[in-house]
Amino acid sequence: MKNIGIIGTGYIGLVTALGLAEFGNKVICLDIDEEKIKLLNQGISPIHEEGIEELLNRNIKEKRIYFTTNFQDAVENSEIIFICVNTPSKDDGEVDLSQVISSAKSISKFLKNRKIIAIKSTVPIGTLAKIREIFSKEGKKEGEDYELAVVPEFLREGKAIYDFFNPSRIVIGAEKDYVIKSLKEIFSVFNAPIVVTSPLTAILIKYASNAFLAMRVSFINEIANICDKFSVDVFDVIEGMKYDKRIGGEHLSPGIGFGGPCLTKDLMGLIKMAEKSGYEPDFLRAILEKNEHQVRYIVYKVKDQLSDLLYDYTISIWGLTFKPNTNDVRNSLAIKIINLLKNDGANIKAYDPHGMEEAKKLIKDIKYCNHIYEASKDADLVLILTAWEEFKKVDFLKLKSIMRKPIIIDGVNVLDPQEAKKYGFIYKGVGRE
Ligand SMILES: NC(=O)c1ccc[n+]([C@@H]2O[C@H](COP(=O)([O-])OP(=O)(O)OC[C@H]3O[C@@H](n4cnc5c(N)ncnc54)[C@H](O)[C@@H]3O)[C@@H](O)[C@H]2O)c1
Repeated sequence: MKNIGIIGTGYIGLVTALGLAEFGNKVICLDIDEEKIKLLNQGISPIHEEGIEELLNRNIKEKRIYFTTNFQDAVENSEIIFICVNTPSKDDGEVDLSQVISSAKSISKFLKNRKIIAIKSTVPIGTLAKIREIFSKEGKKEGEDYELAVVPEFLREGKAIYDFFNPSRIVIGAEKDYVIKSLKEIFSVFNAPIVVTSPLTAILIKYASNAFLAMRVSFINEIANICDKFSVDVFDVIEGMKYDKRIGGEHLSPGIGFGGPCLTKDLMGLIKMAEKSGYEPDFLRAILEKNEHQVRYIVYKVKDQLSDLLYDYTISIWGLTFKPNTNDVRNSLAIKIINLLKNDGANIKAYDPHGMEEAKKLIKDIKYCNHIYEASKDADLVLILTAWEEFKKVDFLKLKSIMRKPIIIDGVNVLDPQEAKKYGFIYKGVGRE
């Protein structure tokens, strides 16, 4: 069992910390956000993930984890330090490394005894050189005071705890046996293949994986939109595709496109990396463009039912988070679509089971409601933008009785079209006209 430091206690940092503590490691979790640290030490999770508070409270009670803002404590008392700060996009799509750089500066003072600094954040090629420069300015020597590794993370928000304990693979990007052995000791508890490779390759594995997932979303959305034209149900098409092992059925969910904190920013990051190297990544650009187009396609579906200008219409939005089972609204396409509808004059009433507090920070002048029926009262159209399970339990009779017009645009194909139609709704899914 090891002493582990986590720098940046956000979605990835917190889940990683709790998972490693659960395996018996001693974990010190650091963040610069004092409020977050205070909450966490009280056993309150700032993020919504199934089972997270149970894990948090158990590991605090068993004294396997605590939370701090003190870099000296976190670095000096850890053998391996995982950097888990965020790497958002700049306006031009390039990766903003400011959190990585600032955390590396804070760590550098306390490096000694060959601490392993493992980067879990998704970072572009060139980041390790920047970190080495920061450590070197502090007089720290690689091989003596510290070692570097890249250990990308692949878990999915909404299923983060499950994914942490059931990873598809572990990728260790490191050159030296000492580093590889130490990291393997931590990760060999998982029943998953461990891919040991160079740090550069580890970086590209992460970017390529996310680009591939984004491609599957854009691909199936393209097919779904074509299905709409021919009144073919896209799920029947998927059913006939998925048995081909080269294709498979996973991650083929037609809808509003990919949002959230990772896929878009990582795709843009990879595009920028390629461009800087002198390569024109036309295919990756097309994936991104298709995703932007899909948002407009959803807005078009709404206007097709109501009108080009939406001043006289009230739209009931079900779902604000970028996917179900999280409270994360970062880069949520639901928010993007609401803004487009608002720009055309629509009056918006919205409900989300867990995302409303976060959404209120991003979007003010809409009415937040306590349930789908409050959001749908006197609405001209229901637009579903997150595939929450609870939406499937809708009472269609009640819904129809309170709406001004019985129209449902299901942007995430969460409802049963036949059921909706049975109750007299005009129902339009994506690839299920
Ligand atoms: N969220 C995901 O599903 C996911 C999945 C795989 C990989 N990743 C990658 O993991 C990284 C983290 O993503 P996230 O969603 O957990 O981010 P996040 O924004 O939720 O968490 C980052 C945390 O770092 C803290 N922080 C910022 N600057 C700091 C500093 N200088 N020192 C210490 N702490 C600092 C912030 O206060 C925040 O709590 C990103 O690179 C992301 O691409 C995320």
